[in-house]
Amino acid sequence: MRFHHLALFLHLTGVAIWVGGMVFIRVCLVSPALTVAQWAEALEYFFPLSWISIALTVITGGFMLIAVGYAHAPPGWIIMAVLGSVMIAVFASVWLGPWAALRAALAKDGLAQAQAREAMRRINKRLDIVLVFAVMTSVVATLGLAL
Ligand code: HEM
Repeated sequence: MRFHHLALFLHLTGVAIWVGGMVFIRVCLVSPALTVAQWAEALEYFFPLSWISIALTVITGGFMLIAVGYAHAPPGWIIMAVLGSVMIAVFASVWLGPWAALRAALAKDGLAQAQAREAMRRINKRLDIVLVFAVMTSVVATLGLAL
């Protein structure tokens, strides 16, 4: 087994956990019976896991790219790195923006329900954007190699 194989395994594990978690939030965690506070509690567990997965994805992806060298890397790899960076930037904006706003609203002990709902709506909207980029990144990373 070459180092590249191990890095690729860890890279795809990171992608699966991060992207899979976002799909779970957007497709499964949508019951109207869930309160905003319950929904936020699930995300409280998701964020640390996703940051670890993102670090794993970036470090292993970076290693594979540097090992081959930018000049020799297929264009699909470079585009993957660019699109992956956009995904991370939008995801970070969720964490710094509406996620921080949601936690602040919930800390007001039910007094800021409207703000909490608005923050939840904004989080969902931005996660959808990250997921659209995730599909594009995966297409480039796989089908793009055939070009
Ligand atoms: C953010 C920085 C990223 C870098 C630097 C990077 C770099 C790389 C590299 C060098 C490979 C090895 C390709 C090969 O062996 O053929 C790879 C594989 C792969 N990456 Fe990324 N990647 C990044 C992010 C992502 C993201 C966010 C996704 C998905 C949403 C993704 C999906 C994939 C997939 C599916 C493969 C397997 C492709 C294959 O082996 O044919 N990558 N990545």
